[in-house]
Amino acid sequence: MTSDTRDAPEDIGVGRAAENDPDRNGEAGRNALVVVAHHRTDSLTTYTARRAAEQLQEAGYHVDELNLYSEGFDPRMTVEDEPDWDNREKTYSVEVESHMKRLLKADLVVAVFPIWWVHIPAILKGWIDRVWNYGLAYGRSQPRLAGKRMLWLALSSATDDFALDFIRSALDVSLNQGVAYYSGFDFSTVGLLPDSEEHRHRFTKDGTMYIDAASIGAERDEQYRQFHQRAKTTVDEFITATAPEAVSAQFRAGGRP
Ligand SMILES: Cc1cc2nc3c(=O)[nH]c(=O)nc-3n(C[C@H](O)[C@H](O)[C@H](O)COP(=O)(O)O)c2cc1C
Repeated sequence: MTSDTRDAPEDIGVGRAAENDPDRNGEAGRNALVVVAHHRTDSLTTYTARRAAEQLQEAGYHVDELNLYSEGFDPRMTVEDEPDWDNREKTYSVEVESHMKRLLKADLVVAVFPIWWVHIPAILKGWIDRVWNYGLAYGRSQPRLAGKRMLWLALSSATDDFALDFIRSALDVSLNQGVAYYSGFDFSTVGLLPDSEEHRHRFTKDGTMYIDAASIGAERDEQYRQFHQRAKTTVDEFITATAPEAVSAQFRAGGRP
């Protein structure tokens, strides 16, 4: 790495504004990418992603469903996909270039995943590390991902407000600010879906976790009715949300978190 052009004030490359991008060949403004990060196809996460995709379709979006596990995405960084700071027009690996096209085509991106250790699963992190690469997601004064909107739909076993506030603020910094706004997205939000497990998880302020007995019968039905309702409302609100100007202006054009 001989020079780093990430802080260059002017775009001296061939950075294309999103609206002029030939890779966005669907109906303008109506393409959604739903990214699923779960190893089981019968998981609550996968089901929630399927429902989100259906909601987007009902709202008139063409949906590209990307299941990182089923498609065999390799989250490990390779030499081919390392950023080359001298060349933001670098051609990355075939796998990464195809994922870049899918990301570029999307107007809305919805990532659906379980919270693992107050963060995203490694396979989703690897997708961001490799695909949201130099020249595409950062390094240009006119971000190629500008105009897009992002929902991070996160399933959490936590139940109480204390734990949820902690998770929400951690994800806000890392995902909204550190990834999406840094990459020029117009809008990004974390939709936290608590109570994803039959065993409710509660925390005390000193960090002790209590795991309740599994909910059964009517109580279990009500728990999951509320869970699915919250997921539906979160996706509906995201579909109709507009970008707050102040946030996008703050992070756009290569701004750093
Ligand atoms: C490795 C691992 C780490 C986890 N870490 C957290 C965590 O930090 N916070 C949390 O609320 N839940 C955590 N969980 C619980 C998962 O979020 C929960 O099992 C998941 O949302 C349930 O959805 P699923 O059935 O689709 O996997 C963790 C689970 C695993 C397996």
